[in-house]
Order: sequence, then structure tokens, then C-alpha cells
Amino acid sequence: MNQSQTQDLPPPQSLTVDRVSDLSDDELHALCEAADAAILDGGGFGWVRPPRRATLEQYFRGLVLVPERELFVGRMDGTIYGAAQLVRPPRHNEAQAFCATLMHNFVAPYARGHGLARLIVARIEERARALGFKVLNLNVRASQTAAISLYEAAGFTRWGTHPAYARIEGQTVAGHFYFKMLQPD
Ligand SMILES: CC(C)(COP(=O)(O)OP(=O)(O)OC[C@H]1O[C@@H](n2cnc3c(N)ncnc32)[C@H](O)[C@@H]1OP(=O)(O)O)[C@@H](O)C(=O)NCCC(=O)NCCS
Repeated sequence: MNQSQTQDLPPPQSLTVDRVSDLSDDELHALCEAADAAILDGGGFGWVRPPRRATLEQYFRGLVLVPERELFVGRMDGTIYGAAQLVRPPRHNEAQAFCATLMHNFVAPYARGHGLARLIVARIEERARALGFKVLNLNVRASQTAAISLYEAAGFTRWGTHPAYARIEGQTVAGHFYFKMLQPD
């Protein structure tokens, strides 16, 4: 797949999600293609415009080395089309050691609608439970309606809205904050 990909992909034979701590050149390329397309489409984990490819590659290469972060990639028929991160609190934060955060979830626009994000969220939730976390937090721009439906369908509860959450093309955008209890308190 390349940057000119505009056609929606046909339904895949297989959907898989795995945690990666090392990325092959092919995987890095696919991940950057998907991220680039998601950013161009307006949902790019903080980026408003796609950075240079070298910057994006550096970002993902560095990300897999960060101890508090785990990168999960979503594949359709073996090729990466989406990702998200499970972020643990810093070690000194004993008071919030029971909470993890799901961040930077995206699927390339041409790979959407096949259940990949739902599986990514489920795998991250499963991993957070396995690590013993009791709460999974996340936040999302109020304009990301697909993501909001995804998280609400997955059982996340909105607990607040920040009116000045992000600045996109000169406009201030609100953001919603969600949590899910993974284990009873
Ligand atoms: C949100 C996003 C990750 C969904 O990816 P996806 O792989 O297409 O989602 P799925 O196919 O797994 O859909 C799962 C559920 O999400 C919701 N959903 C997905 N696309 C939707 C849409 N266009 N409109 C409304 N709900 C939608 C639905 O609840 C859907 O379940 P259903 O198919 O049973 O109705 C994708 O649209 C995206 O990358 N958006 C931009 C980035 C973003 O907003 N990320 C969240 C930041 S925290």
C-alpha cells in the first residue's frame, strides 16, 4: 500500500492485533502509511498535519523503547493498518499506579469499518487487566464521533468534557474524558 491509497480495502480474511517491541522495515513503512493517512484525514494522535516521513519513523522507533508505553498494531490479512498505545503511569506516581491510559488509537481511513479498532481496544483492555490495572482512561476530541461511539460501545463512561482540549486549524476544540473500571474497586 502507498500514500496514494484512496480506495477502501475489501473485507479482510483475518484481523489480528499484537504488541510490538521491534518493528521491521516493512512494518514501520506500513505503520507510517496508516498514520500518515489518518493524520491527513483529521485524526492523527496530536499531529494536525503529517510530519516528514523521517520524523514519523523516528517517532515510532523511539516509542517502542519507552518503558511506560506499549505499542499495539492492528493488522488486516497480516498488514498493519492501525495502532494504539497502552500507557502506564510513571513509577513515582504511586497514587495512580492502578490506572493505565489508552492513547493514540487510529485506523487508516481506507481500512475502517472492519472491526480493527474494536479489536485493538479489546486487546489493550485485556493487556491492562493482565498487568493488574483497575482503571483504563482515555480522552478524545469531541469532534471524533466514530471514536466516541467505539468507546461508548466498549463500555467506557464519559466523566467530563474539557472545553479547550485542542487547537485545530486555529479553532479551539472540546475533548471528552472517559474511564472504564477493569476490576471492582
Ligand atoms: C475511531 C476509529 C479508530 C475507528 O476505527 P474502525 O476500525 O473503523 O472501527 P471499527 O470498525 O472497529 O468499529 C467499531 C465500532 O466503532 C464505532 N464506529 C466506527 N466507525 C464509526 C462511524 N463512522 N460512525 C459511528 N460509529 C463508528 C461503532 O460503534 C463500531 O461498532 P459497529 O460496527 O458495531 O457499529 C477510526 O475511525 C479512526 O482512526 N478515527 C480517527 C482517529 C480517532 O478519532 N482516534 C481516537 C483518538 S482517542
